[in-house]
Amino acid sequence: MRIVVLVSGTGSNLQAVIDAVAVGDLKLEIAAVGADRPGTYGVERAAAAGYETFLVNFRDYAVRADWNRALTEKVASYAPDVVLSSGFMRIVDEHFIDSFVGRYINTHPALLPSFPGAHGVRDALAYGVKITGCTVHIADAGVDTGPILAQAAVEVLDGDTEESLHERIKVQERRLLIETLRQLSTMGVPSLPQR
Ligand code: GRF
Repeated sequence: MRIVVLVSGTGSNLQAVIDAVAVGDLKLEIAAVGADRPGTYGVERAAAAGYETFLVNFRDYAVRADWNRALTEKVASYAPDVVLSSGFMRIVDEHFIDSFVGRYINTHPALLPSFPGAHGVRDALAYGVKITGCTVHIADAGVDTGPILAQAAVEVLDGDTEESLHERIKVQERRLLIETLRQLSTMGVPSLPQR
C-alpha cells in the first residue's frame, strides 16, 4: 500500500506512522509527504526520515479551485492507494475527493459526528462532555464527515485544559491511526460506490 500524507502542522501523527514503518510494525510505503503551507514541522520530520516532500502552497493561488486542482494533480502523481490527512487543516473540494474516493483518510480529535471542525478539543471541553476521543474516518468533501473506520474514547478530567486533553487524545489518535492503517494495508481499502 502506497500512501501520501498531507500535513499542516507539527506532524506527531505522521511521526508515529514513520516510526511504525521504520520498525516494521506497519508495512506500507510512504510515497511522499505534502503540506499546504511552507515551514511545517511535519514536512521537516518527513525530510529528516528521508521521504520525498512537496508543497502546494494555498497562498500561491488566488482561486481556491486552482489550489485544489494543483493539490489533486500533485498527490495523484504519486499514485497512492491511500491519502492520509494527518492534521491537514484545509477542506478539499469534490474534485480532490472524486479523484481519491473512499481512499482519503482523516483523523479528528473528537468523537464524530460531535465537534467537527478546527477546534474539536476546545469545543468538547467548552460543552462540558465527560467523554470525548478521536475518530479515523474516510473523508468526503464536508467538514470532518464521511464513513467512520475507528474511534477511541478519552475521559475528560477535572482541570483539563485544551492542551492537556489534546495530548491525551493524541496518544489514542496515534494508536488508532496505526491500527487502522495496518488493517487497510492487510485487508485493503473498503470500496465505496463512485459518485
Ligand atoms: C491531531 O489531533 C489531528 O486530529 C488534528 O490536529 C492534530 C494534528 O496533530 N486535526 P499533529 O500535526 O499530527 O501533531
